[in-house]
Amino acid sequence: MTQTDAGQGRYIDRRESMAETDVLVESRTPTSDMDIWSDEVLTNPYPYYRQLRDLGPAVWLTKHGVWVVPRYSSIREALLNWEVFTSKNGTAMNAVMNQAVDGILLLSGEPEHQRLRRTFVKPLQPQTLKKLQDRLTALAEQRVEELLGKGEFDAVADLAQFLPLSVVTELLGLGEEGKKHMLRWGAGLFDGQGPDGYPRTIAGLEVAKEAFTYLSNIKRSELDPEGWGAALFNAADAGELSYQEARYMLLDYTAPALDTTINGFSSTFYMLGRNPDQWETLRQNPERLPFAIDEALRMESPIRLFTRTLTRDFDLEGVEMKEGDRAIMLSAAANRDERHYPDPDSYDIMRDSRDHVAFGYGIHMCAGRHLGKLEITTVFKVLLKRLKSFEIIEERRELQNNLRGLAKLVIRANPL
Ligand code: HEM
Repeated sequence: MTQTDAGQGRYIDRRESMAETDVLVESRTPTSDMDIWSDEVLTNPYPYYRQLRDLGPAVWLTKHGVWVVPRYSSIREALLNWEVFTSKNGTAMNAVMNQAVDGILLLSGEPEHQRLRRTFVKPLQPQTLKKLQDRLTALAEQRVEELLGKGEFDAVADLAQFLPLSVVTELLGLGEEGKKHMLRWGAGLFDGQGPDGYPRTIAGLEVAKEAFTYLSNIKRSELDPEGWGAALFNAADAGELSYQEARYMLLDYTAPALDTTINGFSSTFYMLGRNPDQWETLRQNPERLPFAIDEALRMESPIRLFTRTLTRDFDLEGVEMKEGDRAIMLSAAANRDERHYPDPDSYDIMRDSRDHVAFGYGIHMCAGRHLGKLEITTVFKVLLKRLKSFEIIEERRELQNNLRGLAKLVIRANPL
């Protein structure tokens, strides 16, 4: 179990605080002094990720006292060995967040995890989601029509945020308070997962507190009786899960569902805008749409990393890792690993990159991915029918601890 040295803003292992610290730390190689949360890395991360991949299958980050796992094969091996690389001690880089969310699906161990996941995914199965399709399409058609009439629009604020926000808060059955703040709360919950003492982490934790207060005090009567939220409490009535577990699951339906899908949508739009030949290829071959989306998720993974803790010593592709060490799964680096994807920095919708790890891998692989992909696919299907070409005229990124996406992407549209 790790603990946090909040003052220094770095992770330490209990054994490191003892006399043998130096011996233990020195035995961890290869090393790097890179700060993967610095503005410099966050602004243009990919050359840094390549450096890490070239250093080894796992690299000890001296500044934070944690491993980073940057290669495709080593991440998959670690995540398949879920009993060794456990999420039970939290997937964030600070103890405050790890303790606050201790109870969500991601942090639960077996067999509880499978039991909880069965209840969680009930409304998210592809066959159940089919019933949503018509409604999503109607909403998307109306919105796209309005925006094309304007000629220029912000693909993030006007389009990417619209479906995930309305769909998730409505399906969950949240009241006005939840709908109003959920987007800000979602972003705070991700930023609050960064290393101790970093300004983005501190600000994120403040915002996350508001979300925790709201969700832990929400009354059953405030939830739409037809929504997913009410269904959780009904499942608790039936003894499938505890009332406390039902409350944590409200967080599972909201926190990971918004920015991830929003960033996935806007990054797909961005990649197609930066590669107009790929938009044209997609128009000629609309059946490639799912591949175009997966390829964008591969290249611009919306969640760039998450962490695990080792339950025993482990040899990861020749790197010796110790029990109690924390290891960052840098999925955004693995998804551009030249050892697995030839020419990894080029966006190619004819590539089949569905084996990317942007949704994670193994037992905790994203439980909401069918919904996320459905939302993104629905809007692009409508766009493909109505948009001949488009041009990016303004773009802005907001640096975030664990997420990557655009804050603004202004498009000039040339409708059909
Ligand atoms: C493009 C959209 C999305 C992306 C890129 C994404 C990414 C991820 C990733 C990387 C993980 C694994 C985290 C880890 O192993 O530590 C994950 C897990 C999870 N995601 Fe998603 N996600 C997306 C959409 C959604 C949506 C829409 C929901 C909810 C409706 C959701 C709910 C979850 C949950 C509950 C888990 C934990 C699953 C478990 O522990 O078994 N995600 N997601």
